[in-house]
Amino acid sequence: MLKIGMIGAGFVAGFHERALCSVRGAELTGICAPEGAEALAMRARQDGLGNTRVFEDVTDLCDAVDVVCIFSPNFTRLDIMRNIAKAVENGSEIKGIICEKPLARNLQEADVMARMAKALRVPTAYFENQLHMPCVVEARNQLTAVEQSMGSVHLSRSAEEHGGPHEPWFWDPTTQGGGVCCDMGCHSIAVGMYTLTPGGKKPDYLKPVSVTANMALLKWGKEPWINQLKERGVDYKATPAEDYSNVTIEFKDPETGVNSIAQATNSWMYDAPGLRLLMEAFGPGYSYTVNSLESPAGLFISDAAATAVADSELALEKAQATRGALVLQPNEPDLYGYVAEWRDALLAFEKGKSAMLDFQYGRRITMLVMAAYMAHEKKVTIDLTDSAVLQALENYVPMIQQGRGAEVLRA
Ligand SMILES: NC(=O)c1ccc[n+]([C@@H]2O[C@H](COP(=O)([O-])OP(=O)(O)OC[C@H]3O[C@@H](n4cnc5c(N)ncnc54)[C@H](O)[C@@H]3O)[C@@H](O)[C@H]2O)c1
Repeated sequence: MLKIGMIGAGFVAGFHERALCSVRGAELTGICAPEGAEALAMRARQDGLGNTRVFEDVTDLCDAVDVVCIFSPNFTRLDIMRNIAKAVENGSEIKGIICEKPLARNLQEADVMARMAKALRVPTAYFENQLHMPCVVEARNQLTAVEQSMGSVHLSRSAEEHGGPHEPWFWDPTTQGGGVCCDMGCHSIAVGMYTLTPGGKKPDYLKPVSVTANMALLKWGKEPWINQLKERGVDYKATPAEDYSNVTIEFKDPETGVNSIAQATNSWMYDAPGLRLLMEAFGPGYSYTVNSLESPAGLFISDAAATAVADSELALEKAQATRGALVLQPNEPDLYGYVAEWRDALLAFEKGKSAMLDFQYGRRITMLVMAAYMAHEKKVTIDLTDSAVLQALENYVPMIQQGRGAEVLRA
């Protein structure tokens, strides 16, 4: 039985608690967070996940668990990693470190995360749930023979969109790392690359060749939306971030030399039923589509009954309405791949190995996200086969992340 310790008790930790209800061989032993830890620990105990306790600091948590998870905001990553390192150096026997997406806000930070984990010799898991979505995995499985006979996917389109994040730190590009491209582009770029990757090859098999990107602030820089953000403590006049991002990445198969393209589109203006994940793959003579809003279940709530709705997000993540015809997804932790990513990570840690996606893979995704920001900022195609460009990306901090988005974002 692996003992799990979560650092962070907010939105995603809540999702992971629900996911753990469907995972064998694990108990949720501890939670450490400035806010929400008591409530989440109580829910975990009620769900039978163990005698879940609240820990005041990361070192004590590490002493009590086998697997430690970084589920806190992006700007806290390095401090937390340093505290985990201190605990391990002082004798904590950690079998695995998990970090939610994105691994870091930029490549310098991603390097520190990956290097520290390597130096500690502790296996890692980079939690990118979309590669584990059962719909994606099963589509690939079903098409294995077709792909082998016809050739691999040449074009992928992926999108994650909703109406905007729930906490102010996500909106602030200096704390989160950017706008929607850093927050959700990392998902769509990763799953797009995976969709193009031939079956049986590692998730970082394809060689990135070039990146183009177009980003903009289309909704949240205008009245009344900018004012709504201001009331939540987010100043998009002074430090705006992109609420729209469209990234195109060209890849090369290193064995066959064949090129393929991933298009990743993300927005924070999806005023629709709730979160939508979209994946499309086009191979020679075959294709598949995943749309997370297509559900066999639905709800209807009339105007007369709407006042009785306590929390519309119980039906769907980022639900935007409490009445009318609503989409119901009864098992979102499974649908989005959270359950499968846990199973993959814990099975690997039991064997002393890293998960299918490790911190090094997370670093690769950070590099592609940084290349997208650079392409947008400089209005050029970024050539990822040029060693000087790769070198420049190492120390690159996007202007949007520096708080200078007003200089590079058009409305
Ligand atoms: N895979 C996904 O689809 C997905 C979805 C949402 C969030 N995320 C990622 O998960 C992470 C957390 O996001 P969230 O939505 O849960 O955020 P949140 O703001 O809802 O919750 C953050 C939690 O971290 C705690 N925290 C803040 N500072 C801390 C610190 N220094 N040390 C320990 N805990 C601290 C807060 O008290 C809170 O409990 C982010 O990196 C985000 O990108 C991933």
